[in-house]
Amino acid sequence: WEKAALSIVVVGASGDLAKKKIFPSLFALYYENMLPQNFKVYGYARSKMNDEEFRDLIAGSLTCRLNDAGDCGKKMDEFLERCFYQAGQYASEDDFAALDKRMADGESEQSCADRMFYLSIPPNIFTTVAACASKAASSKCGWTRMIVEKPFGKDSESFQELSAALYEHLREDQIYRIDHYLGKELIENLTVLRFANLVFEPLWSRQYIRNVQVIFSENFGTEGRGGYFDQYGIVRDVIQNHLLQILALFAMEQPASLDAEDIRNEKVKVLKSMGQVRLEDMVLGQYRSRTTRGTTLPGYLDDDTVPPNSITPTFAACSVFINNARWDGVPFLLKAGKALANKAAEIRVQFRHVPGNLYRNKLGLDLDKATNELVIRIQPNEGIYLKVNNKVPGLGLRIDTTRLDLTYKSKYQATLPDAYERLILDCINGDRRLFIRNDELEVAWEKFTPVLKEIEDRGVQPELYPYGSRGPVGAHYLAAKHGVRWGDLAADDE
Ligand code: BG6
Repeated sequence: WEKAALSIVVVGASGDLAKKKIFPSLFALYYENMLPQNFKVYGYARSKMNDEEFRDLIAGSLTCRLNDAGDCGKKMDEFLERCFYQAGQYASEDDFAALDKRMADGESEQSCADRMFYLSIPPNIFTTVAACASKAASSKCGWTRMIVEKPFGKDSESFQELSAALYEHLREDQIYRIDHYLGKELIENLTVLRFANLVFEPLWSRQYIRNVQVIFSENFGTEGRGGYFDQYGIVRDVIQNHLLQILALFAMEQPASLDAEDIRNEKVKVLKSMGQVRLEDMVLGQYRSRTTRGTTLPGYLDDDTVPPNSITPTFAACSVFINNARWDGVPFLLKAGKALANKAAEIRVQFRHVPGNLYRNKLGLDLDKATNELVIRIQPNEGIYLKVNNKVPGLGLRIDTTRLDLTYKSKYQATLPDAYERLILDCINGDRRLFIRNDELEVAWEKFTPVLKEIEDRGVQPELYPYGSRGPVGAHYLAAKHGVRWGDLAADDE
């Protein structure tokens, strides 16, 4: 599209996230003709490199769409020609001024260039970089926006500090706080499912829903990322952000419109209505090594980047309640863990029993298993299915639980865009719907800070679970306390 020039700066260009996600997403957007005609990409980091070396560095991580028509290689070359590298210190205004000059040379003279910075850097230098970049390299007459990545602090206090420091250099409308789970296809679809269908919304309350589960599970450990992970733990790494964001979207009231502010207002209300997370409603775990068929899978403490004797949880489950008219008394169970049996992320909505079910005796089943369940499978194998009871065809009356199934790969042939593609594009378009507002984080931290502090002060020992297992047994007791059984992707597929 015709528009002003756009300079995209990836600060921390040699890092892992930049290589794995940011550059491939920028390329995918270019490939799909989603970037303005006059765009350039600048990598910024400390190491010395020239443009050619930088292009070689990122070229290896660009990928083509599965349904590529054959011009992907050519497009890659065109894309790489628009990529440049500028070495500089993160705390040097002069170095950012040099970047500014370089960008100005590349931006067409007659138009007013916009600038987007992606800060893919460790949290301790967020504010320094934001300060230097905004002072020395902001757009003179277009917009300047900055995408920032978590961690947004470690608790309420450090979050407030970070937030105040960012506000010294940027306005709220320039800050794009990313939570990449909000960019996932199925999470975007959550609001469509609820508000564009008649059949779900009337059931979306304590009257029909027994419990809601938001589950994140990875089948690999920290594997070299332990240095970062150990300082945060799974609660901050996944639950307080990704899962809580999903919960907020799931449970919010219908917003006045699809505007970013309307949606985020509703999310904040849900978070405010949520009770404090309590230690007695939480189970913590840490994976240990396990030997199967002669191979040893390393435990968390075997990761060289993890301090010996660390008690940082790699698994956590907790139950929370939303104390408003819609959700009063409905347990929301959140669970996240590394080095478990499956890789999956899903939302499970378990419905109540059918009152006075005519088929009670016919089912001959545990009635617990015969209730409806809606599963929103965020990944892998994205899809939505509703478990329903159905008569097995034939003579006699046998009832079976089966699925109304919308599996994306059978219904839609297109490759799903990566979450980062969507979010970077939204930032370019100035759409903040899928980015987190400051007050959302403020409330999110309020709910989790006391329990995190208690865990640390008391030195709560995590329950050990074997690598590749289903996690600590404690999680089952936690669910049982609320009369709930965790849903299980693997079990559903059996
Ligand atoms: C990140 C966490 O935010 O999300 C990682 O820091 C986690 O620990 C990752 O592995 C999971 O993202 P995805 O998109 O691969 O499910």
